[in-house]
Amino acid sequence: MNIVVSKDYEEMSQQAAEQIVQAVHAKPDSLLCFPGGDTPREIFRLLVQAAKDKRVDFSKATFVGLDEWAGLGREDEGSCIHFLYNQFYSPAGIPDSQVHAFNAKEDDLQAECDKIDAVINEHGGLDLILLGIGVNGHLGFNEPGVSFESHSHVSELDAVTSTVGQKYFKEQRVLSKGITLGIKHILNANSAILIANGPKKADAVFEAVKGPVVNTLPASVLQLHSNAHLFVDREAYAKVEKSH
Ligand code: PGA
Repeated sequence: MNIVVSKDYEEMSQQAAEQIVQAVHAKPDSLLCFPGGDTPREIFRLLVQAAKDKRVDFSKATFVGLDEWAGLGREDEGSCIHFLYNQFYSPAGIPDSQVHAFNAKEDDLQAECDKIDAVINEHGGLDLILLGIGVNGHLGFNEPGVSFESHSHVSELDAVTSTVGQKYFKEQRVLSKGITLGIKHILNANSAILIANGPKKADAVFEAVKGPVVNTLPASVLQLHSNAHLFVDREAYAKVEKSH
């Protein structure tokens, strides 16, 4: 894993955004997977600015959403798709025709999994996947215990995910299920970028980087990826640093 430690969140975001810009330069028709969450907020702001300044051209790229809370859709504040449209797709001027996402409001979530798997297969896999890390080590909604063979699937959310996830919503919500790309999509992506900042991520980052590769800490699977990058600030890297 290529590891870039930055002094703070801003610098971490700049480094990661730059890597994404370079990937799109190298392959303008990339299939890119972006996550929701607080960590990528600044990266999206920088990518929107880069698109406005014409330093990157997303017009040939295709986007796929990483995951979604079961039962929520684009109009629901707190959903991943709502967040991605707000923070990135709309301000970057990306039309709906370039965006694929789970519609987690559908009754048949398995059909949504098949739909997204088909998009990824048609493109021959993801070119780049950007990932946050949960305090429990999850990637998307690949929760502790996930199979490393998984493609898109419906997952029972870990208690930590259900609790931490409340931060995205104005009112308390029951968050019991999610729909997500699988570990196989991550492993098969040409490049995987993991981002983490702040002290609350230090334990998960340590386990992901230094711990054994185990499905109880899904992010540890990135140790098996031949082109994985970790962009992290000092606080999130502190426990790894201490272990040296
Ligand atoms: P966060 O979420 O970016 O809001 O910390 C990351 C995650 O849980 O995957």
